Amino acid sequence: MWQEFKALADEAETVDIIELFKTKDRAEAFSLRFDGMLFDYSKTRLTETTRAALVDLVAARDVAGRRDAMFRGDPINETEGRAVLHTALRNLSGGAIRVAGEDVMPEINATRACVQGFAEDVRSGRFQGAGGAITDIVNIGIGGSHLGPEMAVMALRPYHDGPRCHFVSNIDGADISDCLKGLDPTRTLVIVASKTFTTVETMTNAATARTWMAAAVKDPGKQFAAVSSAVDKTDEFGIPPEQVFGFGDYVGGRYSVWGPIGLALMIAIGAERFTDFLVGAETMDRHFQTAAPLENMPIMLALVGVWHHQVRGHGTRAVLPYDQRLARLSAYLQQLEMESNGKGVTMQGAPLEGPSGPVVWGEPGTNGQHAFYQLIHQGKAVVPCEFLVAAKGHEPELEHHHQLLVANCLAQSVALMRGRSMQEARALMVEKGFEGAELERQAAHRVFPGNRPSTTLIYDQLTPRRLGQIIALYEHRVFVEGVILGINSFDQWGVELGKQLAVTLEPILKGARDGAQKDASTRQLIAFARGFMT
Ligand code: F6P
Repeated sequence: MWQEFKALADEAETVDIIELFKTKDRAEAFSLRFDGMLFDYSKTRLTETTRAALVDLVAARDVAGRRDAMFRGDPINETEGRAVLHTALRNLSGGAIRVAGEDVMPEINATRACVQGFAEDVRSGRFQGAGGAITDIVNIGIGGSHLGPEMAVMALRPYHDGPRCHFVSNIDGADISDCLKGLDPTRTLVIVASKTFTTVETMTNAATARTWMAAAVKDPGKQFAAVSSAVDKTDEFGIPPEQVFGFGDYVGGRYSVWGPIGLALMIAIGAERFTDFLVGAETMDRHFQTAAPLENMPIMLALVGVWHHQVRGHGTRAVLPYDQRLARLSAYLQQLEMESNGKGVTMQGAPLEGPSGPVVWGEPGTNGQHAFYQLIHQGKAVVPCEFLVAAKGHEPELEHHHQLLVANCLAQSVALMRGRSMQEARALMVEKGFEGAELERQAAHRVFPGNRPSTTLIYDQLTPRRLGQIIALYEHRVFVEGVILGINSFDQWGVELGKQLAVTLEPILKGARDGAQKDASTRQLIAFARGFMT
C-alpha cells in the first residue's frame, strides 16, 4: 500500500515548511479545534495534495465502518474473539450496547456505582483501617493496571483531596520496599489491580504487601481491595467480595483507566471529578463518531502519524508535554501505542507490508530541552515532535513560570521549523570576532537544518475533563492508525514469550534445575548472577 505513497513521500523532500506559510490561512487550514483544544499540524510538510491522499485512506480502509463496529460491540478483537468496549465505560449519556445480544450497560453502571460508593467511603473515613481512617493508598498493578491510574493521579494533582496515592508495579523488590517504607499498615489500603489476577509481578508484590500488613493488622484482607475479573482468585487471596470490582473482557488493560482500574484516581479526586474525566472522554468519543475526517481530531492526529512514520519513514515519535504533571504521559502512551500497534502481521495473519507503529518516547519540556533536544535539532534522524501544553496553569501566583513554559514550548516548534542557516551562523561568528577558516569551522557547528516537523496540541487547562479528552483522543488515534495498517490493535501476543521463558529461568537461577540446555550467553549470565546470590 505504501508504494502508492512513494511519489508523495519523494515530493515532500523538496517541501519547505516555511514556504508553505506563504499560502494564505496555512495555520488555520492545517489546524482544527474541538471544545477547549486546538490541534495545529501546520508546521509539517503536509500539503493540500498529501493531506487529501491521506484522507482518502480513511474511506479506503473503512475507518468509519470499523469505528462503528467498535462502538456497537462487534468482536473486532478477532484473535481473541472479543468486543472492544472501553468506550462503554464512559457511555454516560448513551443507550444500550450489546455484546453477543446482551446489553452491558446495566452491569457497567452498577459496578461504577459500587466503585464510587467504596471510593467515597474511603475518602470520608467511613471505611476504616485497623488504626483509623485511611491515609495512604497503595495501588499494585502493572501495564494497563498501573500506567493509567498513575499517570492520571499525577496529572490531576491540583484536584487531589483524598488520601495519598502510591504506585507499585515492578517485580524488583526495591519498588515495593521503597513504597511501604514509612507507611502505617493500619491506615493503608492496598488495591490489587489485575484483570487476570495471575500476573506474576502483581501477585508477588501483593503477597509481599499482605505479609507487611499482617505484621500489624489482625485481618489484613480487610484492608485490601481488588480490581479484577477473576473473583475466584481474589476470594482465595482473602479479599472481601464487596471490595472486589470487576470488568468485562471487552475492556483491554491499556484502555481500562475509565472503569474500576481508575479506583485509585477516584479515591484521590472524588467521584464527581472522576465523572468529569469520563465526560471529557465521552465528548471525544462523540466527536470521533460524528465529525468529518478533516474536522476529526483523532483522525487527523492519526493521519499526521501515518504521514511521518509509514510514508516519510521517520522511525520514532516524541511526545513532549510542557506540563510537569504529565510526566508519565509518555510512558502511558508507550503502552497504549506500542502494545496496540507494534504488530508484524495483518488481521488475516499475512506479513505487514511496511512498518508497524512507531517507537514512542518523550519527557516533559523544558527538562528534555536540556537533555535530548540536541539530537532533535541537529542529529541526522528526523524526530517528529508532538508538543502538548495548557494555556493556563494551576498556580496563579506563579503565572510568570507558566508564561515561560508556554514560550519555551512554542519556541521549540519555531526552532525546529526555521533552523539556522550557514549564513546566519556565519553572521553570529563574525559578531563574536572569528574570521577565516576558524569562522567557517565554528559556524558549521551552529547550523540547524530546520524544516523539521512538529504538531502542537494546546488546550485551556489540564482539568479532569480535558485529561479525559486528551487520553480518548490518543486512544482513537491509535485505533485509526491500526485500522489503516490493517492490524489488530487490541491483542498483545508479543508480551508472552519473555514471560514464559522467565518461568523456566527462575528455577535455574535458584539452583533447583540444571541450565545446560540454555545458550552459552545465558548460561554465562546465570553463572555470574548466581555468584552473588545467597
Ligand atoms: O503483559 C501485558 C499485559 O497483559 C498488559 O496488556 C496488561 O495491561 C498487563 O499485562 C497487566 O495484566 P493484568 O491486569 O492481568 O495483571
